[in-house]
Amino acid sequence: MKILAPSILSADLSNLAQQIRLVEMSGADWIHCDIMDGHFVPNISFGPIVVEAARKSTKLPLDVHLMIENPDKYLEDFIKAGANSISVHFEEVIHLNRTINKIKELGAKAGVAINPSTPISFVKDIVEYIDILLVMTVNPGFGGQSFISNSERRIKEAVELRKSTSSNFLIEVDGGINNKTISKALSAGSDVFVVGSGIFNNDNIPAKTTELKNIISL
Ligand code: DX5
Ligand code: ZN
Repeated sequence: MKILAPSILSADLSNLAQQIRLVEMSGADWIHCDIMDGHFVPNISFGPIVVEAARKSTKLPLDVHLMIENPDKYLEDFIKAGANSISVHFEEVIHLNRTINKIKELGAKAGVAINPSTPISFVKDIVEYIDILLVMTVNPGFGGQSFISNSERRIKEAVELRKSTSSNFLIEVDGGINNKTISKALSAGSDVFVVGSGIFNNDNIPAKTTELKNIISL
């Protein structure tokens, strides 16, 4: 099954519960939470308090993407706040195997996110231990950017890597996903589709959600 994961980074946070309800009733499978600290990425978003508010608004899995320095320090906070899965960046974490084990011990699914300029082959020795490989299709930090053109090749490489290592992680794509690029990511082999502005920057959020869900469900 293909998974649609709207990112609340682009939602109207003054109306979070309502925005989550709109996507939930029209086909969202997970809710993606983008955590930015102004250090690992240039932008600042929100922390565990908002994840906790999202938790109260839905029973859908909360998929937390940590774009922060020293993510180990905050894993417990995000899991207590209600995260069901946590992805940390390959580029930030030195002892990645330890961090992945810690996320699992704390009871969440563990993911590794990889920037557009990091070769997919660099995650070869961690993929058999992870639940999610989050392939960034923009440079992390902001919603509303354009899908980077070599992303399809990178997704295909992730599919190959899954095969050659006999792993079973989900391939998640994040950044610049809209009704055009989602088909490219789908045919390249992605399983989870994060969509921020492509859903929330619309007058009709439910219609957009349904449209994207239908494309990936074909
Ligand atoms: C980018 C974030 C994305 C972002 C996607 O740094 O990780 O999850 O919200 O936004 P769009 O879909 O607008 O590119
Ligand atoms: Zn994200």
